Amino acid sequence: MATSDSKAAPEPQPFETLRWRGELPGELILLDQTLLPGEETYLVCRTVSDVFGAIRRLSVRGAPAIGIAAAFGVIVGIQEATRSEEDLTRAFQETVDRLAESRPTAVNLFWALDRMKARFAELSGKPPVEKVQRLLDEARQIHEEDRQQCEAIGRHGAELLSDGHRVLTHCNAGALATGGLGTALAVVYSAVRDGKKVSVYANETRPLLQGARLTAWELQRSHVPVTVICDGMVGTVMRQGRIDAVVVGADRITARGDVANKIGTYTVSVLAKTHGVPFYVAAPESTFDFATLHGDDVTIEERAAEEITQGFGPRTTPDDIDTYNPAFDITPAENITAIITDRGVIRGPTEEKVRVHFGR
Ligand code: MRU
Repeated sequence: MATSDSKAAPEPQPFETLRWRGELPGELILLDQTLLPGEETYLVCRTVSDVFGAIRRLSVRGAPAIGIAAAFGVIVGIQEATRSEEDLTRAFQETVDRLAESRPTAVNLFWALDRMKARFAELSGKPPVEKVQRLLDEARQIHEEDRQQCEAIGRHGAELLSDGHRVLTHCNAGALATGGLGTALAVVYSAVRDGKKVSVYANETRPLLQGARLTAWELQRSHVPVTVICDGMVGTVMRQGRIDAVVVGADRITARGDVANKIGTYTVSVLAKTHGVPFYVAAPESTFDFATLHGDDVTIEERAAEEITQGFGPRTTPDDIDTYNPAFDITPAENITAIITDRGVIRGPTEEKVRVHFGR
């Protein structure tokens, strides 16, 4: 008689965070993350405003996914502007400028737009239709490279986790935030693939609950054990010895290794230091901002008060209350045990180590 032990492990239930549908003209399809975990609905973006709005309201979010969406957003904005060279150049510039205004902190957005600009410049003199086709190839390439970088981050990071490890993560740095497996969660998925029993504590991540809604959703679909806690519980959970490692993602990493990530990450790093828990940051090269040295120089997005006062339904504060809603914070390099990149691990990050690691 078959026992439950002899059953094959349940298959993960795949989903697509974003993809380009069709050729030219085509459209950008996004899983609308504002509706998760309740509803799995895909948005169709046919205009630059559609893409801009999706990034701004967090239908697509997470630094690498924002960059990929912006690259395809450029195609959405230029694909009908092929009547003349002037038409195309104007549409390209307007689209890039608009998308650059969508969110300020995740450097992957600007990295992806710069890459599209560089490709556009290289194609100077080619007929407009060919230019658009080559730019679509470039956006697809950005997407594919990110998928491969997630795999590499997972491979390098999995070596830092042992069988039985309990990992704390903050926000969502998983498949929902990238073109592949994720960054922080790629480390977990990869360790699980290697046969290690790894479980996750997911901080709920106030105010927009990316941990409770998104990290919990995607880990559950992949059958990775996950426990959701409120952000204020981290200290107690660490003090109780329930966490073996922290792994988080990043929106921007400066040349000296300071990390901008979802608000609350800094607090977790301080608690990890106090409790002697290793604190790892996982990110691809496209998340590094080599032109900025210190975290204090990173622009931190401030978002609407309503995210705090009535994020998901009934008002939870008195009317007319003051709020302060920075979406990200800075974790100084000194609080970071190692940064896991697609090119390997930077232990005890410093400016010298970061620059040598990438040859920058
Ligand atoms: O506001 P969000 O949801 O876009 O914030 C996302 C994060 O802070 C992630 O940790 C970060 O972008 C890394 S995603 C691989």
